[in-house]
Amino acid sequence: MILDIEALLTQLTLEEKAALCTGATAWTTVAVDRLGIPAIWVADGPHGLRRTETIASRTSLPATCFPTASALSATWNTDLIRDLGEALATECLVLGVDVLLGPGVNMKRTPLCGRNFEYFSEDPYLAGTLATAFIQAVQSKGVGTSLKHYAANNQETNRMSVSAEIDERTLREIYLPAFEMAVKQAQPYTVMCAYNRVNGVYASEHHALLTEILKDEWGFDGVVVSDWGAVHDRVVSLQAGLDFEMPGNRPDRVQSVIDAVNNGQLEMSVLDAAVRRMLRLVKRAQVTPKGGGQIPVDAHHALARQIAAEAIVLLQNSDDILPLKSGQSLAVIGLAAQVPVYQGSGSSKINPTRLDIPLEEIRKLAGYATVSYAEGYTALDELHPALIDDAVILAQAHDVALLFVDLPESKASEGIDRPDLRLSAQQILLIQAVCDAQPNTVVILNTGSAVDMLDWVDLPAGVVQAWLSGQASGGAIADVLFGVVNPSGRLAETFPLQLEDTPAYINFPGDNDLVRYGEGVFIGYRYYDTRRQEVLFPFGFGLSYTRFEYSNLKLSRTKITDQDTLTVSVDVRNSGGVAGKTVVQVYVRDDESSLQRPMKELQGFAKTVLLQPEQTQTVTITLAPRAFQMYDPAWGAWRTESGSFSIMVGESVADIRQRASIQVESTQKPPCLVHRYSTLAQWQQDPYGAPVMEAVLDEFRKNLPGAEDGGAWHGMEMMPAVVLFGFFGADHLPKPPDQLIDDLVAQAHALAQT
Ligand code: GLC
Repeated sequence: MILDIEALLTQLTLEEKAALCTGATAWTTVAVDRLGIPAIWVADGPHGLRRTETIASRTSLPATCFPTASALSATWNTDLIRDLGEALATECLVLGVDVLLGPGVNMKRTPLCGRNFEYFSEDPYLAGTLATAFIQAVQSKGVGTSLKHYAANNQETNRMSVSAEIDERTLREIYLPAFEMAVKQAQPYTVMCAYNRVNGVYASEHHALLTEILKDEWGFDGVVVSDWGAVHDRVVSLQAGLDFEMPGNRPDRVQSVIDAVNNGQLEMSVLDAAVRRMLRLVKRAQVTPKGGGQIPVDAHHALARQIAAEAIVLLQNSDDILPLKSGQSLAVIGLAAQVPVYQGSGSSKINPTRLDIPLEEIRKLAGYATVSYAEGYTALDELHPALIDDAVILAQAHDVALLFVDLPESKASEGIDRPDLRLSAQQILLIQAVCDAQPNTVVILNTGSAVDMLDWVDLPAGVVQAWLSGQASGGAIADVLFGVVNPSGRLAETFPLQLEDTPAYINFPGDNDLVRYGEGVFIGYRYYDTRRQEVLFPFGFGLSYTRFEYSNLKLSRTKITDQDTLTVSVDVRNSGGVAGKTVVQVYVRDDESSLQRPMKELQGFAKTVLLQPEQTQTVTITLAPRAFQMYDPAWGAWRTESGSFSIMVGESVADIRQRASIQVESTQKPPCLVHRYSTLAQWQQDPYGAPVMEAVLDEFRKNLPGAEDGGAWHGMEMMPAVVLFGFFGADHLPKPPDQLIDDLVAQAHALAQT
């Protein structure tokens, strides 16, 4: 029976309403059998389904472990993300799950964050675009999603207590846009609030975030669910807009809601608003029956392999050591080649349906060539010189060494951040020794985020970033090494030269439960590129087995208003010898801004088709009005300043191939910003304050000391006008300074109303 929400609201008792807003168990909502309201199931994601066998059990049912988010984003391929979303939804339908708890779109503020493997990027546009595709695809099959963790959950250290201290512009321009884009364009069934505080207020109690921005401004019509254990005061959280507390069951919390309504502390209308959203969630879930059938294991494993291969980023390929040549003997070194490292730890950990072993997959593609194995290191962070000696001997006895390295589970895990970016000492020594003995060495990284490579990156001929790419990563790595797949992955996060170079370095993980986002909007490439700081591998970077030439950049207009879209087109030609894909990236810069803005911001991208040698594709990308906007806290709004903007198109943030300029005209009516203590410069910059101030300035200027030489006058422009009046104008102005300035403020604001 499809629920009649408004009718049910009149039939539900207070006790039933309160119960509906808190979980029945860790994974289910409350059923109200009397009224035909069923319970629904939620389960983790985001890169696979972690559906426990029973409510209480800790083991989960087998499901496809797809590549983790840091790998998904490296594909820059929204079509593949949609294929993934549909596959995940299929597995939810089979295993009876109504809401998949993902995707995670928290920004990668620092590479130290333990959950970076679960998040897409350091760039909000890329993360928002991929999350939108993911949500649309999953929900297209009647399964809900949970966009998380809202907001500013950018570290695991003290995640349940720390306060992210973020200025409004940084919050709006960096930490909210991925949520904003996904909510507006994909309408996730749920949004999960974060554990942490934002500017001192728990995310679960943050009325501005949960109601004013998410629901009122962005039009979110789903359920705000808490992260598990993120609610502290159920009544306060309900009033803030936190509709659904997890986990259940919590009769004490339900009772607190009943008591608050009965004693007048909580308006029934507030509770009804939450219940309405819960019933809407159940109604949405009801549309598609769930449970039964079989997971298409082989097909999903093949999809996982395809995605993982497209996620691989070729970072270095000296002397074209890759792809491997037929008949080469191979020394496969590293425990991760035998014991796959393919996902992170924590709530996202999946029980895979199958698991490729990289060494076996390499043997399958190597044909009759000799393939030998040496462990190289153990699962513990201990030094074993003998293992290095064995690996060196093996490497010397073969044509090419394939050296797998990884990080221990504790360094890609929910609940803990990394202490550094380093590989283990054993693995660093192993890389150095093997490369010294065998220049034809390729290092394959099974890591969830950037690692420090300065000790060794110049030594191997090849470096391949394979991420934590799920149960089929072994086959995917083999596909790329042998050239079955031409790598087309691009970095969705900067790989810095060293931790000390990272923008958050001096403000992480914070002190006294406060972490200051002192870098402001300058996170990731916005920081390095603006400061022209060298990095190891830049945002958007990735090599290919072929090459691409760009030409014929065209803009649809030479002049637009801030309401227009702009179409960018460019020809991309495969100028190399093998078929390949690349990612066309479009960056925008405000050439003349009154606020400090990054030198480049990603505002569009497109992955090409598989281009054959000499084939050209005309790639067309449309920039939305947001591409030119900044969030101006003085206006309390997004706005575009009139002026010139640069459009830059290329293969990475550091490899711009084509440029053009565009004039943008603002049509927004500015607010009147002057107040009693505005500086003279602020009066003169204000379209309403300037004419009003000018009227008194003439007489006043004559009496300013040093006015004739300009120097003193310039310094004074940065003083409040009322102070200047007091210093130099009392005898020459029509009224005492405090009265005069109040008159001028009133005149300016009146002018703004006309
Ligand atoms: C965890 C995670 C969240 C997950 C939830 C349920 O603490 O922060 O991502 O979905 O609890 O397991």
